[in-house]
Amino acid sequence: MWGCRDNFPVSFPHPARPPWQSCRRCRSQRRSHCCQDRRLRRPRLLETTHSVETPYGSVTFTVYGTPKPKRPAILTYHDVGLNYKSCFQPLFQFEDMQEIIQNFVRVHVDAPGMEEGAPVFPLGYQYPSLDQLADMIPCVLQYLNFSTIIGVGVGAGAYILARYALNHPDTVEGLVLINIDPNAKGWMDWAAHKLTGLTSSIPEMILGHLFSQEELSGNSELIQKYRNIITHAPNLDNIELYWNSYNNRRDLNFERGGDITLKCPVMLVVGDQAPHEDAVVECNSKLDPTQTSFLKVTHRLPRLFLLPQPGKLTEAFKYFLQGMGYMASSCMTRLSRSRTASLTSAASVDGNRSRSRTLSQSSESGTLSSGPPGHTMEVSC
Ligand code: BEZ
Repeated sequence: MWGCRDNFPVSFPHPARPPWQSCRRCRSQRRSHCCQDRRLRRPRLLETTHSVETPYGSVTFTVYGTPKPKRPAILTYHDVGLNYKSCFQPLFQFEDMQEIIQNFVRVHVDAPGMEEGAPVFPLGYQYPSLDQLADMIPCVLQYLNFSTIIGVGVGAGAYILARYALNHPDTVEGLVLINIDPNAKGWMDWAAHKLTGLTSSIPEMILGHLFSQEELSGNSELIQKYRNIITHAPNLDNIELYWNSYNNRRDLNFERGGDITLKCPVMLVVGDQAPHEDAVVECNSKLDPTQTSFLKVTHRLPRLFLLPQPGKLTEAFKYFLQGMGYMASSCMTRLSRSRTASLTSAASVDGNRSRSRTLSQSSESGTLSSGPPGHTMEVSC
């Protein structure tokens, strides 16, 4: 009988087994879905951290997995007040995400001074602007000899990746932009920001950026935990510098039908009632509707750290990749099957248009299937 756990050391490949035999424990006939195979594969994950010098200082990034021929790397950029681990670990270690990401090498960039154990920058250090942070990315790709990416960014990281894509459109195959605000702060925003600055500490302002007012007033365990982490962060001064760069960002000036636009498929994601909801909706209205998907996640306090409901994001990400021709649907049967009717199609939330078409949906099973690339997806979960 084929028994996968006890007989093979961690580095040992799975033996061939007759297709009619299933695992003794999980009864899976598919090796890639077997409980024990997953356990065996996990320790073999290759993880390496590197730093490269750029014209704007050094940048640190961590690479997971090995490069796959003819596939872009997934490159992530985190939000203010976080680093790549606190921002992306819940999503990238989510079980259903494994069968997606194992097909890609991942490069997780830490904004300067945000990497674990980063020393505090000396007084007077000129922190890079968001545009300069975007200009550091080519050095990372050159170092790794990667030619194209699929970017996944949150908040400030989403802005940085969008700026990078505007400057280097040929190297970006797709973008997942979570809670992006592409607009510079207006005078009113600045006045409000200055006023808040008089009464609030940096940790409180960053909490206001990461969580909605409703979440903050609920003061859940998650909020308390995060407040405690950021208040006592040894690199709080560095975090403040990244925060200042975020608040000094320029307008990305997206223009529907104009020259300044994202040319690749884009999936915009926002939480319903998230602090950035209006900005993301406006961003959606400015991008090419044939290239842009919009995913709205019903606001609920995130179960896992900051990314709400990774199951739904995972599934949307899968369809996004499928739309780009990267994930054969045959590879994804378990994910599709495990999906319940938790995703439902919704009418457009874009004030300017009403496009509720978009994601093909089987009303009986409640499953969503990928449309051809460029179809807009507007989903409320
Ligand atoms: C990854 O597999 O890409 C990953 C693992 C842990 C934290 C973040 C990303």
